[in-house]
Amino acid sequence: MLYFKKKDIMFTGIQPTGLLTLGNYCGTMYRWRNIQKDYQCFFCIADLHSLTTFKIDNSKYCFSSNILDMVALYLSCGVDPTNSVIFLQSHVYTHSQLYWILSNFVYFGELSRMTQFKKRLLYNNTQINLSLFSYPVLMAADILLYNTNCVSVGLDQKQHIELVKKIALRFNSIYENIFIIPDILIESIGSKIMALQNPKKKMSKSDINVDNTIFLLDKIDVICLKIKQSLTDSDNPPQIVFNPKKKPGISNLLSIFSSLTNTDISILEKRFKFYQYSSFKKILSDVICDTIFKIQQSYIYFRKNEDYLIDILKSGKKTALNYSKNNLKKIFSVLNLV
Ligand code: AMP
Ligand code: TRP
Repeated sequence: MLYFKKKDIMFTGIQPTGLLTLGNYCGTMYRWRNIQKDYQCFFCIADLHSLTTFKIDNSKYCFSSNILDMVALYLSCGVDPTNSVIFLQSHVYTHSQLYWILSNFVYFGELSRMTQFKKRLLYNNTQINLSLFSYPVLMAADILLYNTNCVSVGLDQKQHIELVKKIALRFNSIYENIFIIPDILIESIGSKIMALQNPKKKMSKSDINVDNTIFLLDKIDVICLKIKQSLTDSDNPPQIVFNPKKKPGISNLLSIFSSLTNTDISILEKRFKFYQYSSFKKILSDVICDTIFKIQQSYIYFRKNEDYLIDILKSGKKTALNYSKNNLKKIFSVLNLV
């Protein structure tokens, strides 16, 4: 089990609903290596959240190939398991317990206004689980259990985290100041990478059109092809300028470039002013492949040692449980439940 130095806490999570994507990387994972210098970090694999849309058909799911892939990719993006906690949400029962408590501090109207929920409702309004509706309350439990000071997420999670803050403030205003109100860490660029064939929607792990998504474990030549075939805007002459409303395709590619090279969009616009889309895409492919190739090399190294990956999850479970149990106890106590 880990013993912590006195540092602020950062919490983040990803659902294990499929292979991790360039969207996950640009939205949050790219900063994981460095953020560990300043924060005590908790990296959660949010498998309880994924139950909302995903069926588990494997009795050894918690150490299944998909989960171990995720652990290996967390490590490949720079997570250091000797300093940070990597754990599976379902291994730590305190999350579900706090979830129930917190559901008494959030209103039906607030949850009904969540954009992600409304989108689901539009898509399928006959088989919506209660869990899809209350999804942000479980996020609140995840975050608030660990005295989290900041949460690193992509833009699609911003509204959820705002609600988490509201729930915490409401609880604090009735009881003691039990919860720390977390800050949201979202980058201005890269926090919403769009689908390559349809840059008006988010790049997602579960997109049925795989050409929309670059997966961190895609073969290098597949990545190049996906970028080459990505939808760009039909203006003549083609112009490499950032304008997400009028030119969503090229703007998305510029965002990826900017995020991976840490270069301002305005500098990229100047650099590529006289380029054809095809030449720009070629250079972008090199940038993406360079980043992903390094991650994949590291992944191959870590993924071979399954026992090590399983040990990381077992040790993460112990640390997360130990840490969160103390907090849950305090919460039960202020509610007069013990
Ligand atoms: P998910 O894959 O939905 O569990 O998301 C895990 C994390 O990655 C969250 O912080 C998301 O906001 C972030 N994320 C997912 N897709 C994207 C995307 N297309 N662009 C930027 N961030 C993303
Ligand atoms: N719901 C998040 C997503 O799909 C994943 C997640 C679960 C999370 N719990 C969290 C992210 C707590 C940040 C903090 O993207």
